[in-house]
Amino acid sequence: MKKESFVSIADCSKEDILHLVRSATYFEQNPNRKLLEEKVCATLFFEPSTRTRLSFETAVNRLGGRVIGFSDAATTSSSKGETLKDTIKMVSNYADVIIMRHHLEGAARYASEVTEIPIINAGDGANQHPSQTLLDIYSIYKTQGTLDNLVITMVGDLKYGRTVHSLLNGMSHFNPVFHFVAPEELKLPDIYKQFLDDNAINYFEHADFSPEIINQSDILYMTRVQRERFTDLMEYEKVKNVYVLNNKMLDNSKENLRILHPLPRVNEIDGDVDDNPKAYYFEQAKNGVYARQAIICNVLNIINS
Ligand code: CP
Repeated sequence: MKKESFVSIADCSKEDILHLVRSATYFEQNPNRKLLEEKVCATLFFEPSTRTRLSFETAVNRLGGRVIGFSDAATTSSSKGETLKDTIKMVSNYADVIIMRHHLEGAARYASEVTEIPIINAGDGANQHPSQTLLDIYSIYKTQGTLDNLVITMVGDLKYGRTVHSLLNGMSHFNPVFHFVAPEELKLPDIYKQFLDDNAINYFEHADFSPEIINQSDILYMTRVQRERFTDLMEYEKVKNVYVLNNKMLDNSKENLRILHPLPRVNEIDGDVDDNPKAYYFEQAKNGVYARQAIICNVLNIINS
């Protein structure tokens, strides 16, 4: 029987997301259950990664599974011209689940269509990063005590930032108000604004990263300008340091404000913010282990109770 893949957060209902958040909560309390003892998980990373790959591998190791895979496609037969389809079909002979990051948008969906084993999308181009979204939502839930009716401000590269695209989709079930702060060149693409309009979700766009916006936010979601997606590096140079959050800017922010960032950061959050109790990005990355344990068990139909 073909098993469920985890390709896009848009495939998840509100109940699916809440189920995964409950499951992540369980794994935070029980991270070392040996639920994957008979399983082999393949991590195929065609693009660089620190957090996503290592937290997926930690998730598998803590659950007693085995990991195979690669973190540099140049060392694989794709460098000799092997197609993605053939690579996926081959790895499906060896593993029970494939966790894949790829530079092409739609690569994870395509992979899920050419194999009978589940595919987990660990990021496909500028499109989606659904496991990041689950850990972001879990982090929001942990810090706010609710997912409902929050003011979420997203700052930086809203054009290429796949974590932004996934997160606005995932949070759309919970009646948020969004503020989008981006320069003209990096504004949120129309397709995502259309999605928000279709779902009657309030949003506001800004070019200035002003105190008024920070001070009304529950979540401040900072993002890196995605250098690797620019075809013209002169364009990147123009916008790379457009918004930089520093500690002073948080002086009048709400008590419950938490600053999230999918990481890696470059210059967009000053080091002086790190010691502010409202900075949550390193804990957020830790939450990735529990969220990813939840996702792996879910696609393999393993009950965690
Ligand atoms: N957040 C994230 O995707 O980080 P990595 O690129 O290090 O995996």
